[in-house]
Amino acid sequence: MLKKKPGAAGTSANPMWGGHYIGGPSVIMAEINASIDVDKRLYAQDIRASKAHAEMLAAKGILTSKDAKAIAQGLDAIQREIESGVFVFSSALEDVHMNIEASLKEKIGDAAGRLHTARSRNDQVATDFRLWLRDTLDELDAALKDVQDALIDKAESNADLILPGYTHLQPAQPITFGHHMLAYVEMLGRDRDRLSDARKRVNEMPLGAAALAGTSFPIDRAAVAKKLGFDRPMANSLDAVSARDFALEFLAAATILGTHLSRLAEEIVLWASPSFGFIALSEAFTSGSSIMPQKRNPDAAELVRAKTGRLLGAFTALTVIMKGLPLAYSKDMQEDKEQVFDAADTLRLSLAAMAGMIRDMQPQKTAMAEALEDGFITATDLADWLVRAANLPFRDAHRITGGIVRLAETKKCRLDQLTLAEMQAIDKRIAKTVFEVLEPVRAAASRTSLGGTAPDNVRRAARQARKRFLKG
Ligand code: ARG
Repeated sequence: MLKKKPGAAGTSANPMWGGHYIGGPSVIMAEINASIDVDKRLYAQDIRASKAHAEMLAAKGILTSKDAKAIAQGLDAIQREIESGVFVFSSALEDVHMNIEASLKEKIGDAAGRLHTARSRNDQVATDFRLWLRDTLDELDAALKDVQDALIDKAESNADLILPGYTHLQPAQPITFGHHMLAYVEMLGRDRDRLSDARKRVNEMPLGAAALAGTSFPIDRAAVAKKLGFDRPMANSLDAVSARDFALEFLAAATILGTHLSRLAEEIVLWASPSFGFIALSEAFTSGSSIMPQKRNPDAAELVRAKTGRLLGAFTALTVIMKGLPLAYSKDMQEDKEQVFDAADTLRLSLAAMAGMIRDMQPQKTAMAEALEDGFITATDLADWLVRAANLPFRDAHRITGGIVRLAETKKCRLDQLTLAEMQAIDKRIAKTVFEVLEPVRAAASRTSLGGTAPDNVRRAARQARKRFLKG
């Protein structure tokens, strides 16, 4: 809330603006301009990058080693204050960079003013942000790996469990629960690839681009990059301070990951509904209803499903912020961090909830077996049998099977409850051995083609997935 009238003069000029500014910003200007509430999360990265910068300035003789030492010690002290909660961030100082520099000045005096030699907040913020995102990508990778681990365990312990597989949400063919779990392991594997690919472009260093044009000081950007673990200094100073595609790429990959999480979340919601009853969730991941005592609502899954909207919102917001911005830096870009922080927080929470739910859920064999009774789920197997045993073209086999399904529909029975005579009346080539393939368990077990659903495949695929995704 504004404490003063909008447009009222603020207190005093920002000391960071030096001699050019005499008056302070209006209250409303101070409020719209400040980003400290959001970017204080970058304090550790800001301090780390400043220390590397100061060390390089000293190595190049641009700073005395005495000043560099005072700067490093002062920054360490600030970090301790922030981490112990005694540091007071001031919104009058706009952002994390100026808060830290102002505090450094209080601590070590004039030497603090030399830290900003050969840099600008433009390359500083881009550097801090990239350092932060790099660490975050590593954390998210570990969280994704944990979800894969939970899925692979569930797959292995349910490699033989048969349930209907669906297309159009209509019963299609019998599949194994393990196979279904492993489908998500693959999706999340590609999400990890996307994030690690994005990481390559995150891990380039803007520092040394200064405001936009580089600097006349004889800096050593390669040394700073090495010190901070960047792969290289960015090649073009204008690009270095203007680029936010690294953040957009993260948000795009986060959105795609969100769609995968939401699909699994949706299946959990469906399966946990008594209409399906394919899984039971414990009280740990559900909530009751204040009015309907029988309810066990899958809230965590619903929220994971919903949070995809937030992720796409963040991606959309930053895309629109960046579109049409002229080079180099514009203050518009200050709005980048809120989106990226929110997306990262959302993913952390969603991935943890997902791992928890996967470990928690108990597949319900009886409900799955009952569902297999409906929908003539082995009709394809009957058609395949006709192809194999009677050497029919698949199209003809499909037509004959259609007739048999129609008969079972009229008689309101399963395919395997028809008599041989009834089937032979439709096609005389049908023999007794057809009954073997009409059994869902056998139908699933017969799908041994590469990538298929057979239990033996699932056990092998789970072992391979462990090697591909969980090693190291
Ligand atoms: N707080 C600013 C941001 O996050 C730092 C860069 C400010 N640069 C400037 N030229 N005003 O974008």
